[in-house]
Amino acid sequence: MTATPAKRPPPTAQDASPLPRAVALDLLDGVFSRRRPLDEAFESHPGVSRLERRDRAFALNLAATSIRRIGQIDALIDHCLSRPLPEKAAGARDLLRLGVCQLVFLRTPPHAAVDTAVTLARRRGHGAHAALINAVLRRLATEGAALAAAQDAARLNTPEWLWRSWAAAYGEDVCRRIAEAHLREPPLDLTLKAEGGRAEFAADLNAAVLPTGSLRIDQHGPVTTLPGFGAGAWWVQDAAAALPAKLLGDIRGLRVLDLCAAPGGKTAQLAAAGARVTAIDRAPKRLVRLERNLARLELAARTVAADVGDWRPPGPADAVILDVPCSATGTIRRHPDVARLKTPGDVAGLVNAQARLLAAAVEMVKPGGLLVYSSCSLQPEEGPAQIARLIAAGAPIRRVPITAEEVGGLGEVLSEDGDLRSLPCHIADLGGIDGFYAARLRRL
Ligand SMILES: C[S@@+](CC[C@H](N)C(=O)[O-])C[C@H]1O[C@@H](n2cnc3c(N)ncnc32)[C@H](O)[C@@H]1O
Repeated sequence: MTATPAKRPPPTAQDASPLPRAVALDLLDGVFSRRRPLDEAFESHPGVSRLERRDRAFALNLAATSIRRIGQIDALIDHCLSRPLPEKAAGARDLLRLGVCQLVFLRTPPHAAVDTAVTLARRRGHGAHAALINAVLRRLATEGAALAAAQDAARLNTPEWLWRSWAAAYGEDVCRRIAEAHLREPPLDLTLKAEGGRAEFAADLNAAVLPTGSLRIDQHGPVTTLPGFGAGAWWVQDAAAALPAKLLGDIRGLRVLDLCAAPGGKTAQLAAAGARVTAIDRAPKRLVRLERNLARLELAARTVAADVGDWRPPGPADAVILDVPCSATGTIRRHPDVARLKTPGDVAGLVNAQARLLAAAVEMVKPGGLLVYSSCSLQPEEGPAQIARLIAAGAPIRRVPITAEEVGGLGEVLSEDGDLRSLPCHIADLGGIDGFYAARLRRL
């Protein structure tokens, strides 16, 4: 749920200004050297606010596309070098990466891509590599497109540990389709606050109505300028992320706990559906964002800043949703940096945290009440394996299988056990969907 500038930028900057490229260079350094999420690096970069809106979008798109295609880009660079660049030349390598991205994937005119890379090399203290950058980029300006067309893009742009885990979980073919889906920038999905008026909003926004009810826009400028933003008629939420909250059914007047709630996409859904919602998150700053989002939407929820593992409600809730912190590998289409920043060690740590939160969530729901567990991860450890372990441990819960009708008739997003298991390659003809897992459980 966000009001930040739309990821989909206006057409690629065709001019030869080094400024947006300098920002993109810092963003790559932020992700690859400082291991910071791209959004965070972008939002905190002091140079971003000094750029024109078009250049700002170009800088973000250049960095995001470079990260999305980094395996291909590095292979193209290595193809042109007789020996690898030394570790300490990370800045020069990032400049080359940005240049190759522009030449091969953004179709920037060669003079703009090459000249700005050489200028920035001199300005940023990589003058010793300026001639090499010039030579590699000039060569790839002519050979790059053909070389890239012969590459295995899906494989090269997917870290090996992720490829192996998806191939084991879903089979080699589906793994490849997931990786192919990650090559494309996703459309923008919106969740409407009110059930009525969907067709009218779709027309105003030039949006498609998905079978699940979300509105989908392919081309758009900044989100804040779209019709209905100011009036709080909708919020940004991937179509898959909008499914877990719906699994609680009719919640009008019920006391619902939204555990791990910020920035509040699911809180907004629950409140809009008429529930009395308490939203708990341990990050006070993120809760402030949730409160701001709810205020724009004119929706209400009680908020609590607390660790869900320790906090308990005064009495058991009618229903609970737990949207756990996870590796977010289901959102790589939107956040290509996730594939480069997350490690198997991160997943192991998250799995332990999720198990603790899930055990706490079971305690908070009244007998007969529903608990929905969800995560935006493709890793089975963070999804079905958590539920299998909970059931095997004898927890007082029973799975309530989800039906295709509850997810807009999209049988392909359901697992054999009746859980939600959407993959980025699902509904490909409609533009794909994020990878989301959810299980619905009834407290005994
Ligand atoms: C996946 S995000 C939640 C997204 C949110 N449900 C939505 O739909 O907009 C996970 C959230 O869990 C919070 N979190 C992580 N560990 C937590 C804990 N132990 N207790 C409470 N919140 C936690 C994080 O601050 C983060 O906001």
